[in-house]
Amino acid sequence: MPSEEMIALARQVMGRAYAPYSKFHVGAAVRDEDGGIHGGCNVENAAYPQGLCAEAGAIAALVAAGKRRVLECVVIGPGPEVITPCGGCRQKLREFATDDLPIHLCGPDGLHRTVTLGQLFPMSFGPHHLEKP
Ligand code: THU
Repeated sequence: MPSEEMIALARQVMGRAYAPYSKFHVGAAVRDEDGGIHGGCNVENAAYPQGLCAEAGAIAALVAAGKRRVLECVVIGPGPEVITPCGGCRQKLREFATDDLPIHLCGPDGLHRTVTLGQLFPMSFGPHHLEKP
């Protein structure tokens, strides 16, 4: 179960999403290796491909706070369909997390289900592929 604090932060930042084009507001919260939590929301752009996902913002906030590990992730969307991180965000999470990362998929009413990054993104390419022997 995600902490109430993580869900509350994800919900709070979802309310600040800038999504005038899709009108699809998303919030994310990630927990770092020292227990700190960091939030992000989607930030769209008139040049559509320049838009940022909520997860990307949360990861950027974690790194900017000097942290390097994502140990837990909450994503909250408007429902009713359960939201899942896009392919690009699965790769971004992979950089700072392992396959067992719990990703809590939430709607306005709270937690829908929890999956792992490995379930969403099997056989991923990650930092270990670049390690020199
Ligand atoms: N979006 C996210 O921020 N995170 C997700 O997990 C899925 C999609 C955003 C991107 C875009 O601003 C809007 O939702 C519609 O795709």
